[in-house]
Amino acid sequence: MVNSFDLYRTRTISITSGKGGVGKTTIVANLALALSQKGKKVLILDGDLGMANVDIFFGVKTEGNIHDIISGRKEMTDILKEVAKDVFLIPGGSGVVEFNHLNHFERRAMMEAISTLPMGFDYLLIDTAPGIAENVLFLNSAAQTVSVVLTPDPSSFTDAYALMKVLNKQYRVNKFSIICNQVRDEQEGLGIYGRFNDVVNRFLNLGLDYWGSIPNDPVLRKVNQMQRLVLRHDAGAESSQAIRQICNQIEKSSRQIETTGGMQMFWDQVVGFA
Ligand SMILES: Nc1ncnc2c1ncn2[C@@H]1O[C@H](COP(=O)(O)OP(=O)(O)O)[C@@H](O)[C@H]1O
Ligand SMILES: [Mg+2]
Repeated sequence: MVNSFDLYRTRTISITSGKGGVGKTTIVANLALALSQKGKKVLILDGDLGMANVDIFFGVKTEGNIHDIISGRKEMTDILKEVAKDVFLIPGGSGVVEFNHLNHFERRAMMEAISTLPMGFDYLLIDTAPGIAENVLFLNSAAQTVSVVLTPDPSSFTDAYALMKVLNKQYRVNKFSIICNQVRDEQEGLGIYGRFNDVVNRFLNLGLDYWGSIPNDPVLRKVNQMQRLVLRHDAGAESSQAIRQICNQIEKSSRQIETTGGMQMFWDQVVGFA
């Protein structure tokens, strides 16, 4: 049965983007670790169902994935993997492209299985596929906070704008948190955010807030290639410091969020589809 205490306390955040390869999975994995280092219990949903790879970032092997849940072959507790202390992963399973198009009942099965996990998570982080495919929109709309990753690449800018526009018009998401990744320095991150905010204010009726930026860091890139997390491998690296700062920002904003929402919204989605 649903434990309403847990539903209310879990904060759900999707990390998404208009364009691929901007660093979503890097951010999800390292943020999860940063939050756990602050004593939080974190659940990651690898929701990039076409190219799920969160497990690779943690350098672990997983057994089963979300597709086994949707098809009823396995229970959530069979596939849930503790990838670091207090960080749990629901693996997405990769290479099965048709799963990018879950139907109504499959989505419901997935949400229900997640919402009813009885483990008292502080955070649910959702790694999504990029773009505006129906499932990406759905996962984002189910999260309490949608965080969009921008990079200095102009197409990340235009694609993010398109994503927000659709989420706003179709799903009434009216607030987004921005992370700028692969920037030269903090100044460039702030500049990207400022320009993006100007355009959004002019053409869309929604609010943005800035969670911070992460520098383009060769240390991070190299460590990623070794299937390790920069935060664990080199806690003093520039990118590690930036990720910890974003983690602090998220913690600060958590205190401002009303007591409703969180996993409850996930559950509402399930009920809404009943
Ligand atoms: N801040 C950064 N500095 C250097 N390389 C980065 C940074 N963020 C991501 N990368 C690299 O960019 C590539 C894409 O990152 P990834 O997290 O897989 O993106 P996505 O999940 O959005 O597709 C990876 O090779 C990763 O190592
Ligand atoms: Mg990814």
